[in-house]
Amino acid sequence: MEFSGFKLRLATPADLSALHALIEASVRSLQANDYTPSQIEGALGTVLGVDTQLIADQTYFVAESPERNRLVACGGWSKRKTLFGSDRGPGREPELLNPATDAAKVRAIFVHPDFARQGLGSLILSTVEDAARAAGFRRFEMGSTLTGVPLYTLKGYVEAERIAVPLWNGDALPIVKMVKSAE
Ligand SMILES: CC(C)(COP(=O)(O)OP(=O)(O)OC[C@H]1O[C@@H](n2cnc3c(N)ncnc32)[C@H](O)[C@@H]1OP(=O)(O)O)[C@@H](O)C(=O)NCCC(=O)NCCS
Repeated sequence: MEFSGFKLRLATPADLSALHALIEASVRSLQANDYTPSQIEGALGTVLGVDTQLIADQTYFVAESPERNRLVACGGWSKRKTLFGSDRGPGREPELLNPATDAAKVRAIFVHPDFARQGLGSLILSTVEDAARAAGFRRFEMGSTLTGVPLYTLKGYVEAERIAVPLWNGDALPIVKMVKSAE
């Protein structure tokens, strides 16, 4: 699939090192107004990072720029209970959800700072929602960073709960559980 020259495809294990670099650049730059340096250090690689279960499930997407196939954005959805976090995140719940009664989880959308505000976050979100809808889900939810709230609010998500996620360095990361019913 193509969008303004960007190519969208499923992520594979071969993307892992590029994904780590993309997520770190995204977090350090785009979240700098929402979180302290200590919160960012404590969250990178645990709360904020890649969940390789999504790559194995083929529910994680990457967008590439045409030149040198550079990764410019990523994000996915999950048919499993875990709401947020990387492989090393807290509260992992790999149990499968029931599309008839449960909300699909929207997971880990990150855009490279050089490509912010060009519609890539919206593109990943609509791709993810379409894929979850095709799998039978009728509701979506996510643990959004404070940085993600304006985009998700624009796309019809509403705040359900504020959560302070404890971090390994003693700090805590405020995130927002947001929910949406599929049209
Ligand atoms: C949140 C994020 C994914 C948005 O990606 P993006 O590609 O810049 O978003 P889009 O270009 O699709 O934005 C669409 C609209 O959402 C709103 N929006 C997006 N980012 C915004 C911001 N930082 N502040 C205010 N509004 C914002 C705007 O209305 C925007 O439209 P506009 O650019 O015409 O004003 C990106 O900022 C990011 O990667 N942040 C760091 C990682 C992160 O926190 N991800 C969320 C994880 S849950």
